[in-house]
Amino acid sequence: MPILLCLIFLLFSSATADCEQCLHQAKVSFFSKAEALQSGACGYGSLAIGFNGGRLAAATTTLYKEGAGCGACFQIRCKDNTLCSKEGTTVIVTDRNNDNKTDFVVSSRAFMAMAKKGMGPNILKLGIANVEYKRVPCDYKNKNLAIRVEESSQKPHYLAIMFLYQGGKTEIVAVDVAAQADPSNWTFMSRSHGAVWETSRVPIGALQFRFAVTAGYDGKWYWAKSVLPADWKNGEIYDSGLQITDVAEDGCSSCDDQSWIPDS
Ligand SMILES: *[C@@H]1O[C@H](CO)[C@@H](O)[C@H](O)[C@H]1NC(C)=O
Ligand SMILES: *[C@@H]1O[C@H](CO)[C@@H](O)[C@H](O)[C@H]1NC(C)=O
Repeated sequence: MPILLCLIFLLFSSATADCEQCLHQAKVSFFSKAEALQSGACGYGSLAIGFNGGRLAAATTTLYKEGAGCGACFQIRCKDNTLCSKEGTTVIVTDRNNDNKTDFVVSSRAFMAMAKKGMGPNILKLGIANVEYKRVPCDYKNKNLAIRVEESSQKPHYLAIMFLYQGGKTEIVAVDVAAQADPSNWTFMSRSHGAVWETSRVPIGALQFRFAVTAGYDGKWYWAKSVLPADWKNGEIYDSGLQITDVAEDGCSSCDDQSWIPDS
């Protein structure tokens, strides 16, 4: 196998070994201050407030995966039948949780969203809840995957981009950039932190991207042929023209059919 293919294969196999789509038992607590999540490790900053109706989560290291878990969606339901609804709620990962005591620390809005109607204030009093969770596809109905040029970019020497609104249940494991005028000369980007990728070899002019995602049991390349205009600007968000809807399988077949909604 050529070296690049081997590398991609390794990335895919390590990224998919955690059986995230199985049901997990865990504890979840909440941040009392919304600002805690806005300054999250993924790097979304204040944009995060607008994600998923404010139902945000800091995920434990094994789910955060050094940033590859940023933007992943999880369905979480708590197990107190009096307070909690059967469906629970869906959260999006915007931060890393280092406390070792809970798998997630979520926004108070997400915590309350696990409650039955009218039980929101009561569930907050719990402070910490026993939950079940599993990874689910993120669903951006009317939005494409977008690329934001980070403020740290310095044209023409350094480009940092962040992925936003990544649909499906996948992880981006490799990113390449090329000038639209020169599709034969691809430069790889590296993950800087969280959802941010960077390169200090910036092609000149309008830019296109291709990226590898975990999908099915292997991986899949996406090609966004027209993303950044030649006059790309820091802080701007650009439409990639495509959306990811794949679901990465992790081969944890013993749990694949486990039903999520319990018998009522
Ligand atoms: C969490 O666990 C790791 C490794 O077991 C340890 O290094 C770290 O200090 C712990 N963090 C806290 C906040 O207890
Ligand atoms: C390929 O692109 C890089 C920048 O990404 C540039 O430095 C290099 O000169 C280009 N190579 C060719 C052959 O155009």
